[in-house]
Parts: sequence; structure tokens; C-alpha cells
Amino acid sequence: MYEELALFELAIWIGLPAWIANATPVLGGGGRPIDGGRYFRDGRRLLGNGKTIRGFIVGIIFGTLTGVGQFLIAPYLRPLLALYVTVTPEMDYVLFMQIPVAILMSFGALTGDVVGSFIKRRVGVESGDPSPVMDQLGFIIMALIFVAPIFEPGPIFVAILITATFFIHWLSNAIGYVLGVKKHPW
Ligand code: CTP
Ligand code: MG
Repeated sequence: MYEELALFELAIWIGLPAWIANATPVLGGGGRPIDGGRYFRDGRRLLGNGKTIRGFIVGIIFGTLTGVGQFLIAPYLRPLLALYVTVTPEMDYVLFMQIPVAILMSFGALTGDVVGSFIKRRVGVESGDPSPVMDQLGFIIMALIFVAPIFEPGPIFVAILITATFFIHWLSNAIGYVLGVKKHPW
């Protein structure tokens, strides 16, 4: 029981830089779009005005800062974790993930977001309109791919992380819908 809870908490821990990187562009985005306003040969925008250079940079900065914060508090969390589970080497590996891990996950998350946007435009989804599954999971999968050369958390953590990401995204959108700030509940 405590063991499962620890695995769940550590999977969330891995996801934090990518989630923050994905969530913060909306706060600091704006200005010049990444595609420079250019159109693809299908007559649609390459990416659209929803993907800006400033948003990309804001995401990287906040995702990286998240990793720095985690790096600083990990030594204090270790004894708390050890209070209720036997801390395995895999758990230590995840808990003490290094700052470059957060940087790569942030870059991956933002790149996944851009790739997702490109695909959405190609299949005719307008800027800002939802594309369920890709909007929820594209960024986290790309974050895991980007970080894979230096950090591989193992299949259990990956499975929990992807499932948790899907539900958190879904839940946050549903709350946004109920509060009236989102057009669709997904
Ligand atoms: N944003 C940004 N730069 C980014 C990503 C996001 O400025 N690289 C900001 C934009 O204001 C964007 C908002 O965050 O409208 C929400 O992001 P997201 O939902 O990912 O973009 P969409 O507007 O839905 O665009 P798309 O359909 O291309 O995904
Ligand atoms: Mg969107």
C-alpha cells in the first residue's frame, strides 16, 4: 500500500518539470509566433498564433526552475520517504534526478506541444481548438523521449506518469469548463 503510494508520488515528481513547462506559456506567452506567421503548402498556418517564441522560452525557464527546486529539496524528502517505505535504488534514482533532466524534459514538453500544433493544423484543427489525446499526452511523451538518453525511469513510473498526466489534464480542463474559462470540457 505505502509502496504503491510512493511509486505514484515519485511518478508525479518526474512529471513536474514537463507539466510546469507545458502549463506556464499561457501565462507569459504572446508576441511573435514561432512560425513567423508563415503558411504551409496546404494553405494553413505552419503552427498558428498560439505557439509563440516567448511562450516557449517561458516554459523552458519555469520547467528548469522547477527542476532546480526539486534538486534542492530532494535531500530533505529522502528521510520522509524512508519513514514509510524501504527506499529502493530505483526510487533514489528518480528522487535525485538532476537539473539537466528537467531542462531536457522542458524542451521535450515544449517541442511536443509544437509538433502537436503542427499536426493539428495539417488535419484542419484550428488554433486553440482541442485535439483530445494529443493535447493531453503529446508533450509528456516527447518529454520522456528527449530525456531518455540521460534518464530512464523504468516502465512502472512511465505508465503511472502517462496515466496521471492524462487525468490531470482532463480534470483541469473540466474544472476550467465548469468555471467558464474554457469552451469545451476536454
Ligand atoms: N502559448 C504560447 N507559446 C507556446 C505555447 C502556448 O504563447 N509555445 C500560449 C498561447 O497564448 C496559447 C496558450 O498558451 O494560446 C495555450 O496554449 P495551447 O493550448 O498549447 O495552444 P493553442 O492556443 O491551443 O494552439 P494550438 O491549437 O496550436 O495547440
Ligand atoms: Mg490548446
